[in-house]
Amino acid sequence: MAAAAPHSLLLQKPNPGTAAFTNPLPLTPTAHLATKPLRPLSIKCAATTHQIQDPPHAAQPRPQDRVFNFAAGPATLPENVLLRAQSELYNWRGCGMSVMEMSHRGKEFSSIIQKAESDLRALLEIPADYAVLFLQGGATSQFAAVPLNLCSPDDPVDYIVTGSWGDKAFKEAQKYCKPNLIWSGKSEKYTKIPSFGDLQQNPEAKYLHICANETIHGVEFKDYPVPKNKGGILVADMSSNFCSKPVDVSKFGIIYAGAQKNVGPSGVTIVIVRKDLLGNAQGITPVMFDYKIHADNNSLYNTPPCYGIYMCGLVFEDLLEQGGLREVEQKNQRKAEILYRAIDESKGFYRCPVEKSVRSLMNVPFTLEKSELEAEFIKEVAKEKMVQLKGHRSVGGMRASIYNAMPLAGVEKLVAFMKDFQARNA
Ligand SMILES: Cc1ncc(COP(=O)(O)O)c(C=O)c1O
Repeated sequence: MAAAAPHSLLLQKPNPGTAAFTNPLPLTPTAHLATKPLRPLSIKCAATTHQIQDPPHAAQPRPQDRVFNFAAGPATLPENVLLRAQSELYNWRGCGMSVMEMSHRGKEFSSIIQKAESDLRALLEIPADYAVLFLQGGATSQFAAVPLNLCSPDDPVDYIVTGSWGDKAFKEAQKYCKPNLIWSGKSEKYTKIPSFGDLQQNPEAKYLHICANETIHGVEFKDYPVPKNKGGILVADMSSNFCSKPVDVSKFGIIYAGAQKNVGPSGVTIVIVRKDLLGNAQGITPVMFDYKIHADNNSLYNTPPCYGIYMCGLVFEDLLEQGGLREVEQKNQRKAEILYRAIDESKGFYRCPVEKSVRSLMNVPFTLEKSELEAEFIKEVAKEKMVQLKGHRSVGGMRASIYNAMPLAGVEKLVAFMKDFQARNA
């Protein structure tokens, strides 16, 4: 057995009684007060008749093998998760096949999806009256699925638009209901979040929609507006800050997120929906968009994105092993703090346009005062093995996405480069 590096225990076969089998995070909202560690569900291959072997240990990658990937999504994944997936790719826990080859209705995959759901519930302390769905179609599909499931065609709904993704959601909803734009940050180039007291919410609205973190503009809700609609329903696109910090799920009717930023590969879309909202989809709703059908079938109505769900499960397990979302949030705060400080202390050489109080912990957009140097910045930084720092094509400049899996060392290296670049070009 290799010496224990951080998280290397995840590479071992779970073995009751070892540290790898204990879970420091609560499974219930109050359990974190208890001292007894909770055990995550264990997964075993049901089909195998021979002894389960330890997965072969992949060689630890040398640091030079990997870049620091600041992409906005698909994005960097935790190295220990990738290594574990590598070690299990060919023969999952001795069952003689890969997760990619398993029946989605077999015992092995059932245990994988159940554990993924149970670990996600533990991480976010998801109340029992919420369904967790593992779907496909990206967060973009949810722009249509949300109104289709919650509204009739003539129903009013409220949208707050703080960036491009919220805008896309608002426009898509126009096909399925009567959305009202109650606040838009467009005229201020999406650098702000509104003050909630000023919002004119429609009490007849079926829901209030927000994008909790605008991936392109780097604007993040730090608190959430209280919905004033009769049902008290707040819907949030959390694609780019999902599982980056604790969230009180009970404040929301629906939370949805594409997995490919913080919790897995692209291809998985997670929907957390309050159960009393199920069962009212418009007649035209395709079965693939009907939350009730997926909830009734435990996300197995049709073939789900099995391998992606397995990968999400490994990420959830890793987040639990790290101590849960409070720990994760602290790490994210630290990373964001040193990057924003470097920008703010650059005497205008670098600038972040976003209002300080609502700057995203996940996506940090910045520009250079001398914009003609931006191409050179991107070229030079890539030579230092820091990639995908170009800003979104719609806004330009630079953007560093520093999701959960971006190590502090990656941000420190970027900050050191930024200071050096400034010293050479100021
Ligand atoms: C906040 C947000 N919402 C929605 C989307 C669209 O997600 P998808 O490409 O999975 O449909 C993205 C993609 O980057 C996003 O960042």
